[in-house]
Amino acid sequence: MLAGVFLLCFLSDFLLTSRAQYAPDEVTDLPGMTFKPSYRQWSGYLQAGPGKFLHYWFVTSQRDPTKDPVVLWLNGGPGCSSLDGFLSENGPFHVNNDGATLYENEFSWNKYANVLYLESPAGVGYSYSDDQNYKTDDDKVAADNYQALQSFFVKFPNFTLNEFFIFGESYGGIYVPTLSLRVATGQAKINFQGFSVGNGLSSFALNDESLIYFGYYHGLFGEDLWRDLNDNCCNKGGCNFYNSSSDSCKIQVCVCVCVCVCYSGPRLSSVSLNAVPPCINSTAQTNWLNRGDVRKALHIPATLPAWDICSDAVGEEYNILYWTVKDVYLKLLSMGLRALVYNGDTDMACNFLGDQWFVEDLVRAINSEVRSKHPLCGRSIGMNCLICPSFVLRDQQCLDQQSVTTLIVETVFMAYFCAFKLQPPLIVVKSC
Ligand SMILES: *[C@@H]1O[C@H](CO)[C@@H](O)[C@H](O)[C@H]1NC(C)=O
Ligand SMILES: *[C@@H]1O[C@H](CO)[C@@H](O)[C@H](O)[C@H]1NC(C)=O
Ligand SMILES: *[C@@H]1O[C@H](CO)[C@@H](O)[C@H](O)[C@H]1NC(C)=O
Repeated sequence: MLAGVFLLCFLSDFLLTSRAQYAPDEVTDLPGMTFKPSYRQWSGYLQAGPGKFLHYWFVTSQRDPTKDPVVLWLNGGPGCSSLDGFLSENGPFHVNNDGATLYENEFSWNKYANVLYLESPAGVGYSYSDDQNYKTDDDKVAADNYQALQSFFVKFPNFTLNEFFIFGESYGGIYVPTLSLRVATGQAKINFQGFSVGNGLSSFALNDESLIYFGYYHGLFGEDLWRDLNDNCCNKGGCNFYNSSSDSCKIQVCVCVCVCVCYSGPRLSSVSLNAVPPCINSTAQTNWLNRGDVRKALHIPATLPAWDICSDAVGEEYNILYWTVKDVYLKLLSMGLRALVYNGDTDMACNFLGDQWFVEDLVRAINSEVRSKHPLCGRSIGMNCLICPSFVLRDQQCLDQQSVTTLIVETVFMAYFCAFKLQPPLIVVKSC
């Protein structure tokens, strides 16, 4: 009897609080917004562990929020904010150069999906922890994000039945599959369907190795340097620019790195992996996000420090555990999950060629059991378009391939990447 009463109280309590939980986070007015949005949005915090609070910004779909998928978006770094993705890549609006007014983004992903932007890990952007200890690693980030995700579905129980996808870019190439594996193998009831990575860091070796070819074929290195590279790093037609034991090769690679000023990979460069991406101008977004009235509208506690696109505290102490996510992909694919690997062809921090090699290597490693779950696996259609179920597309080819990809990926949801040329043009050069 007592237990019954308790359960009843608990249930009504839960229903009341779960509803009330998201209400205070609703964003009703945003400074600089001169248009009326056709979607709802919430900004607030998701608990990711004791004393750990991750800032989220959730926008509903402009189409059909109840039927459209929920997509989690993660930028990389490690230590950079997913609000960069919101305010200058795939979010519903961007900040004008004046740092004060907003304009609508016609390529917004929330035209087809409810999108959850999560500033992760704690210490990034407006996310924080009470103890301000921001030392973390890949596994801890995945565990924290998994907890935050569960907090999200407790806060927004209406969205638990929607299909759920995890997307990210750059160092998100590590965040996305590692979190996906937690979600796919964890206890939480999440309607997880698949994951996707754009210009991701998937393998340090392949990324660094391909960068040299990328640089040469983009005209960054002259013939002399290219000859020196080949003389010192290659043997019998095979090259190793990534971790050659030859000092003379290391020197040539170092020269390349000096040429690639925008590159900030950890192995080839003395530039910290965590440095703020040198080729992104986030002045307007930073100015807007740091306005007192904007912070207030987004429910950011007044005690928190100013917003920055990347956090040195997080980046400098970050402990990398995965030098390749090949095994993580293989596990996820063997569970029948859908995956999409897409690349724009100008990013030099995580260049398309490294990801293309990664997908090709994956296709070779996939066993017949996985293949039977993905009948298209391993077939490639057109140049640079590998179908795994993962595939790599280059922006330019994307439009041409649209009908093919529509057919392949089955859902309109995936195909809209092509319809909208994958990414807004801002993805030029970014840090992983
Ligand atoms: C960066 O953006 C701000 C505001 O949009 C602009 O005023 C400034 O000139 C830009 N800086 C560079 C180096 O492009
Ligand atoms: C959840 O569903 C209820 C009942 O249909 C509705 O009143 C409420 O607005 C929904 N909340 C969200 C966040 O969509
Ligand atoms: C170089 O990298 C490859 C691929 O990651 C690895 O198998 C090999 O052991 C590494 N060699 C050295 C000398 O670090």
